[in-house]
Amino acid sequence: MAKSWLLLFCLAFLLPAASATCHPDDLRALRGLARNLRGGGAAHLHSVWSGASCCDWEGVGCHGASGRVTALRLHGHGLAGPIPGASLAGLTRLEELFLGSNSFAGTLPDELFSLAGLRRLSLASNNLAGQLSSRLSDLRNLTLLDLSINHFSGHLPDNVFHDLMSLEHLVAHSNGFSGSLPPSLSSLSSLRELNLRNNSLSGPISHVNFSGMPLLASVDLSTNYLNGLLPVSLADCGELRSLSLANNRLVGTIPSWIGELDHLHYLDLSNNSMIGKVPKSSTRLKGLATVVGHSPGMAFTNMPLYEKRNRRILGQQPNVISGSRNTIRSGTNNVLSGNDNTVISGNDNVVTGSNNVVSGSGNVVTERNHVVSGSDNVVSGRNNVVTGSNNVVSGRNHVVSGNNKVVTGG
Ligand SMILES: *[C@@H]1O[C@H](CO)[C@@H](O)[C@H](O)[C@H]1NC(C)=O
Ligand SMILES: *[C@@H]1O[C@H](CO)[C@@H](O)[C@H](O)[C@H]1NC(C)=O
Ligand SMILES: *[C@@H]1O[C@H](CO)[C@@H](O)[C@H](O)[C@H]1NC(C)=O
Ligand SMILES: *[C@@H]1O[C@H](CO)[C@@H](O)[C@H](O)[C@H]1NC(C)=O
Repeated sequence: MAKSWLLLFCLAFLLPAASATCHPDDLRALRGLARNLRGGGAAHLHSVWSGASCCDWEGVGCHGASGRVTALRLHGHGLAGPIPGASLAGLTRLEELFLGSNSFAGTLPDELFSLAGLRRLSLASNNLAGQLSSRLSDLRNLTLLDLSINHFSGHLPDNVFHDLMSLEHLVAHSNGFSGSLPPSLSSLSSLRELNLRNNSLSGPISHVNFSGMPLLASVDLSTNYLNGLLPVSLADCGELRSLSLANNRLVGTIPSWIGELDHLHYLDLSNNSMIGKVPKSSTRLKGLATVVGHSPGMAFTNMPLYEKRNRRILGQQPNVISGSRNTIRSGTNNVLSGNDNTVISGNDNVVTGSNNVVSGSGNVVTERNHVVSGSDNVVSGRNNVVTGSNNVVSGRNHVVSGNNKVVTGG
């Protein structure tokens, strides 16, 4: 009995100490790191990182039993200068490294890629530059990689993403990455978030086969120079909630499979060269209204959305719209040409081409096979169906009802 009391007494002393004692290798590495950090916040760390209980130090996390340092969370600590790679590499069991929102500059030290146990790496919002090393593929356990808001440039390396089978979040927006999307992105089978917005990526978006990423919930590739058609492989991403491809050079029609993405609630395809409409039949897209707010190319439509070559806000100023199968739901003083267009409401538009459906008032409609309703429209051409009142109709073979003035023909 006395023995076990003694044991408990000793344990009570030992336990708190044990939880704070870090492995001597890690202690040495952290002391080296403190010496090599620059910037206003480095002096602070230097003063608070004292003693040998490094597991208790600010920003340091340890694995309880082993006392190995597994996490270093120094985001927003006023640090600057190069990332001290050699000291970091001494933290061989590191799984989480958060250095975001500092002023780190220079290129990524090669030693960073020797931290093979890293699971979460965030370097966002620094002044880091240079190309992304293909040694990234050594970090096979990564689930999160955030490089956003830096000055990284050059091509994204291909042949690295095959190895990152655990990666769930790839976030590298607002850098200077250029070149085409590496096809090996297609093998990121655990990926949930892909955000490469606001880079200078070019080439066909279909370089990525999205079929290999069944868990993707969020894709943001907006504000690049991506071209080509929307890849049908996106239709296999049944978990997709948010898809933003705005401000690229995508072409073609908005495909009907968009309507089959059950969870999609945000879609922004504005400022591309796409035509067509999101399938209205799909009630699942009822939440899509979120798209309108900040998307100039779409501000002129209500939902369901319609995408255009047009790059101006229709509600605010006259637009020139060409192409076919466009729909204008509101707006005034627009010039619309092409075929199979629909003006649902809106005034004082000039519509040419054929097979247009026009309602509203004060529209000038030329060419043929239009259906015109509303009032005070001027209709010329032939084979038009005109209802409403005070329309002026010329040409021939029209079907005119209502209180309209038929100038010529009949
Ligand atoms: C990667 O993760 C696996 C599974 O959790 C683990 O067994 C392995 O040791 C990790 N690799 C490294 C280099 O830490
Ligand atoms: C785009 O990225 C640049 C840096 O490459 C940054 O300065 C700019 O603020 C970013 N723009 C947006 C809208 O995120
Ligand atoms: C995309 O990958 C899937 C398997 O994930 C494959 O069946 C399909 O053929 C690939 N598509 C293309 C265009 O390579
Ligand atoms: C449209 O996208 C291009 C990039 O492809 C961009 O330079 C331009 O500013 C965008 N226009 C608008 C109105 O957002």
